[in-house]
Amino acid sequence: MRHLVGIEGLGLAELESYLHNAEQMVEVLGRDIKKVPPLRGKTVVNFFLEPSTRTRASFEIAGKWLSADVINMGGGDSSITKGETLYDTIRTLQAMSPDVLVIRHKESGAAHFCAKHLERTAVVNAGDGMHEHPTQALLDLLTLRQHFAKRNRDLHGLTVAIVGDIRHSRVARSNMFAHALLGNKVRLVGPASLVPRELEGIVPGTVEIRHTLREGLEGADVVMVLRMQLERMTEHFVPTLDEYSRDYCVSEASLKVAKPDCIVLHPGPMNRGTEISTKLADGARSLIERQVNNGLAVRMAVLLDLAMQEKAMQEKTPGGAAAGVSIGGSDAAR
Ligand code: NCD
Repeated sequence: MRHLVGIEGLGLAELESYLHNAEQMVEVLGRDIKKVPPLRGKTVVNFFLEPSTRTRASFEIAGKWLSADVINMGGGDSSITKGETLYDTIRTLQAMSPDVLVIRHKESGAAHFCAKHLERTAVVNAGDGMHEHPTQALLDLLTLRQHFAKRNRDLHGLTVAIVGDIRHSRVARSNMFAHALLGNKVRLVGPASLVPRELEGIVPGTVEIRHTLREGLEGADVVMVLRMQLERMTEHFVPTLDEYSRDYCVSEASLKVAKPDCIVLHPGPMNRGTEISTKLADGARSLIERQVNNGLAVRMAVLLDLAMQEKAMQEKTPGGAAAGVSIGGSDAAR
């Protein structure tokens, strides 16, 4: 059983296969009627034990547009509140034969734990603590690939600056692994308390650390801004949010040192005025809404790939299940 627990461990071919399949889904998203049949009869369980707006909604929509039956559960409405362990909860869910379990959990390693203990259900990590958020990195890459393709550039040789609370960010980690595979340079930018030196060791040779916006954004092709993840902080990492913003809030003015056509990403949720100015978030450089839309395409590609893996294996399809499965016309055309 294949799972998607992280970008770490994926090869470049697998990464590119996910992006290629997601691009095919972008075509489906452009149709008037987006519901297509390939996951009819398949079941997806979305189990979110942490708050989420875009990730949770997009996994639900992605599953429904592929015609899967989708069940959504939060920690508060599961028997976890009655003392049931994560192990017993996921074994119980597996006994009902879902094809895919999408899990978000506050503990790093939770998705890996599920993958280890399930043999008939594929696991997708929708964010585990400070560890990884692979579908976020894939949608970020899809957004970059679309943007740079229009300028006849591919996804190699870029300088990507990630600014903010890197210490607590699973988005930053997944992106670091992805950009290492692609041969890009990643600058981690923020105060030393939020960008500790040991982060350089995660993907040696790829990561540089800078503690000022001016040094960090110099020559950047892409700036990804991250929120302060206060819910994961066990102590004070910055004196006050106001003081943090004075030094690290990214605005149009901070991008003067970046490449003139530098673009801006943010995984959301945004705290306007704290880590990013409203003008920049809503301005021409911002691809933030495109990221959200691409999240649907990426999650459709991932669900299709993991739910159809037995079929792909029977047909010995190279390049992942989605490559071998016909998406078909929209329901209206049938
Ligand atoms: C991120 C997450 O949950 O890791 N959000 C998301 O999924 N789009 C980033 C964050 O919470 O700051």
